[in-house]
Amino acid sequence: MKLVAKLSLVLALFSLLIAAPVAGQADDLSGQLEIFSWWAGDEGPALEALIALYSSLYPNVEVINATVTGGSGVNAKAVLKTRMLGGTPPDSFQVHAGQELIGTWVKAERMEDLTFLYEEEGWMDAFPQDLIGLLGTEDGIWSVPVNIHRSNIMWYNPAKLEEWGVEAPTTWAEFLEIAPTLQEKGVLPLSLAANWTANHLWESVALGALGPEKWNALWAGELAWTSPEVVAAWDLFGQILQYTNEDAAGLSWQQATDMVVDGRAAFNVMGDWAAGYMATTLGLEPGTGFGWVASPDTGGEFMFLADSFGLPLGSPNRDNAIAWLKVLGSKEGSDAFNPLKGSISARLDSDMSLYNAYSQSAAADFGSNVIVGSLAHGVTANEGFMNDFATVMEMFLASRDAQQAAMAAQAIAIQNGIGQ
Ligand code: GAL
Repeated sequence: MKLVAKLSLVLALFSLLIAAPVAGQADDLSGQLEIFSWWAGDEGPALEALIALYSSLYPNVEVINATVTGGSGVNAKAVLKTRMLGGTPPDSFQVHAGQELIGTWVKAERMEDLTFLYEEEGWMDAFPQDLIGLLGTEDGIWSVPVNIHRSNIMWYNPAKLEEWGVEAPTTWAEFLEIAPTLQEKGVLPLSLAANWTANHLWESVALGALGPEKWNALWAGELAWTSPEVVAAWDLFGQILQYTNEDAAGLSWQQATDMVVDGRAAFNVMGDWAAGYMATTLGLEPGTGFGWVASPDTGGEFMFLADSFGLPLGSPNRDNAIAWLKVLGSKEGSDAFNPLKGSISARLDSDMSLYNAYSQSAAADFGSNVIVGSLAHGVTANEGFMNDFATVMEMFLASRDAQQAAMAAQAIAIQNGIGQ
C-alpha cells in the first residue's frame, strides 16, 4: 500500500473513532442497569429512545426501566427515598437540577462526585456554566443534565379559540375578564389536575405577580412570605382557581391537557412536557394542533427546570451506570431524547434542525429571556420544603385563605432552611 493510501486509511479509522464519542467498550459491559424515573406510559417515548441508543451501544447489558407513574415525580420520589434510605439504590435515578439534588441527596452524602466524567467527556464546555453551577457544590458535580424544560407556558387549541372568539391572555387581568364569557359558552376557562399541578400553576402566577427579582428574593430568604406582594399573589391565585374544574384532584396532567385539546377547556398552564405529549403522543402539529404563550404576566421570563440523572453511592452496576450517564450527556443522546420530550437540549451544541416549531421557539426564548428557577420542579427548594408546600397547597385549596397560606409558607420556609 502506498504511503498516502496508508495515511488516509489511518485518518479514516481515526475519524471513525472520534465520530463515535459515546461508543466504546461495548463488549466489556454486561449484567444489568436499573434506571429509575417517573417517565412511565405517555411520558415514556423520549426515555425509551435513550434506552434504545444505550442498548445499541451496550447490547450485552440488560436495561431495567424502573418507573413509578405520577407527574413531577410525586410518587417516584417517595419510593426513591425508601430505597435510598434502605441502602438499595437503583443504578441511576432521575432528579431535578438544583435544590432537589443538592439540598436532598448531596446534602445527605448519598451521591458520587461526577467531576471526572465532566472532565473526560468535555462537558465543562458542553453545558452552560450556570447549569453546571446548579448541579454542583464546592465538593463536586453531582448529576448529568438531560434537558431544559420550561414551566411557565399556557397552552391552548388555536381552532377552538377562534371558534369562541377569544385570544390567549397575556395578563391574568385579561384572563379574569374573558373567563366569564367562556363559562357562558359552556367552556371551562382553565383546566387543572392533581395537587402538584396546583403548585405548578401557583409558581407561574407568583412569578407573574412578583417579577423575577422578587421571585429570586423569596428563595434567597430576602423577601418574607408574609409580605403584602406574596399575599397578593395567593389572592390572585385564589381568583384564578374559581375558573378551574372541581374534579381536578383526581386528574393526571395529561388529562388536563386533553381537556384543552378536545375543547372542553380553553387554557392550561403546564410545563413543556405538554408539548412533548401533544406532538409525540397525540401527533399534533405545533402552531396549528396546539398553541402556546408565556403564562400570563410572565412574557420575557423563562422559568426553567432540568431533569438530570445521578450516580448514587452503592450503585450496584456502577460501570453500566457510568456508561448510561455518558450516553445521556452526549450530543447524540440529547438530540435523541429532547425532540420527543418537548424540552430543549441542555447542551450548547444541539442540532436544532431536529426540533419542532415549539422547541425552536423555546430555545430562542431561553437565549433571550430572564431565566428563573422552578419551585414545583426542584430548582429553588429542597424536598422538605416541597413536601410541606404540598400541605400548604391542600390547605389553601380547601380554605382559599391567602393570609393563612402566606403565614404557613413562611413557617415551612424557616423550618426547611430556605435562603440559609
Ligand atoms: C417534571 C419533569 C418533567 C416531566 C413532568 C411531568 O417534574 O421534570 O420531565 O416529567 O414532571 O411529569
